[in-house]
Amino acid sequence: MTETLPPKTPQPDPAPRGEVMIEAVTHHGMGRTADGTLVPRVLPGELVTLAADGPKIVTPSPERVAPPCRHFKSCGGCAMQHASDGFVASWKAEIVRTALRAQGIEGEIAAVLTSPPDSRRRARLAGRRTKKGALVGFHARASDTVIEVPGCRLMLPQLTGLIPALERIAALAASRKGEAGLTVTDSEAGPDLHIDTDKPLTEELRIALPEIAREAGLARLVWADEIVAELEPPVQRMGRARVVPPPGAFLQATAHGEAALLEAVREAVAGAPRIVDLFAGCGTFSLPLAETSEIHAVEGEAAMLAALDRGWRGVSGLKRVTTETRDLFRRPLLPDELARFDAAVIDPPRAGAQAQVAQLSASQINVIAMVSCSPASFARDAKALIDNGFEMGPVTVVDQFRWSPHVELATRFTRR
Ligand SMILES: C[S@@+](CC[C@H](N)C(=O)[O-])C[C@H]1O[C@@H](n2cnc3c(N)ncnc32)[C@H](O)[C@@H]1O
Repeated sequence: MTETLPPKTPQPDPAPRGEVMIEAVTHHGMGRTADGTLVPRVLPGELVTLAADGPKIVTPSPERVAPPCRHFKSCGGCAMQHASDGFVASWKAEIVRTALRAQGIEGEIAAVLTSPPDSRRRARLAGRRTKKGALVGFHARASDTVIEVPGCRLMLPQLTGLIPALERIAALAASRKGEAGLTVTDSEAGPDLHIDTDKPLTEELRIALPEIAREAGLARLVWADEIVAELEPPVQRMGRARVVPPPGAFLQATAHGEAALLEAVREAVAGAPRIVDLFAGCGTFSLPLAETSEIHAVEGEAAMLAALDRGWRGVSGLKRVTTETRDLFRRPLLPDELARFDAAVIDPPRAGAQAQVAQLSASQINVIAMVSCSPASFARDAKALIDNGFEMGPVTVVDQFRWSPHVELATRFTRR
């Protein structure tokens, strides 16, 4: 999977009404009344009146806080800035418990680890041309409109500070009608920019863009899928290895979240001499784990594995890491292929890993570290493992997408 985004939220009912009580907050982050009306930016126990320009709070919840960002009311990037960190953490834990309960599993939550504000190292922004030039920001709540977000509290400051340069680029990449996607990723050498655009890369652009990249201090600029400028390799550190991911490659959204997931994975597979890392990406788990274990990294994208392999070869002292490009939905590793490993790490995209989990169940592997960005598909896969003799450990909820409804998690399965 590439960037993980919060699911689209259902639309609130804008009709003016009398006072209503908010009973709960859905997993999309919408308040819900007893009759099922959905209301944004409210909390359980709040009495509110509904008006066309949004809810008016009559009795606030003790969990209500002043939103840290002034764009919160209009910007679609965040859903929960009106709630205390404690409320958001227990709400996310409950999303995981509810998904597990739907599969008949009572899950224990070990912790909710939330990344700090201003820590997202990757964000997908939208750019639109305007009469004056261009603007870059996030989509407004439930809308195609792009709004500017100076002072945004999600991204690392060096990414927020890049927005004026991104606007220069958006003026070239977006058409009057269409918008350009601008995915910016922080790297050791500066920001790595990937522009998603239909506009052809003309000779003029080939000349102009490297100059803009240099002025903006970009490490790399990729237009559609073509690298137009690479001033420095956009290096990511994975354990002791230095990896240059291919354009558009998956990376965990914050360094804090990555460390939390890695810690949970490390603990789960500790002591296993040979580990298979399924859906390995560029080596987020493989390369740090290779300090102590031999790793076989399997992933659908050959370019990511090539980056992982170069990273491994560039550092001495790691155990052996082998790679295999493979579609794990269509061709999961089979029990006889899994027989040479002592433990598995599995970190699938949102769809989960139904086919691979079935083969893990049928294999001799006794220890699995599972990481997931979708509580629903995780719960389905967890049930399959539990039904086949595995026991699920406590679940660590990792919140890399703070203030959004998105939830990630990691846990350990051991064969009973
Ligand atoms: C959630 S990411 C995890 C990557 C890596 N573990 C990490 O933490 O950086 C899921 C990975 O699965 C890969 N992927 C998606 N569909 C796949 C498939 N059908 N077969 C193999 N890999 C797939 C994606 O390219 C992506 O690298």
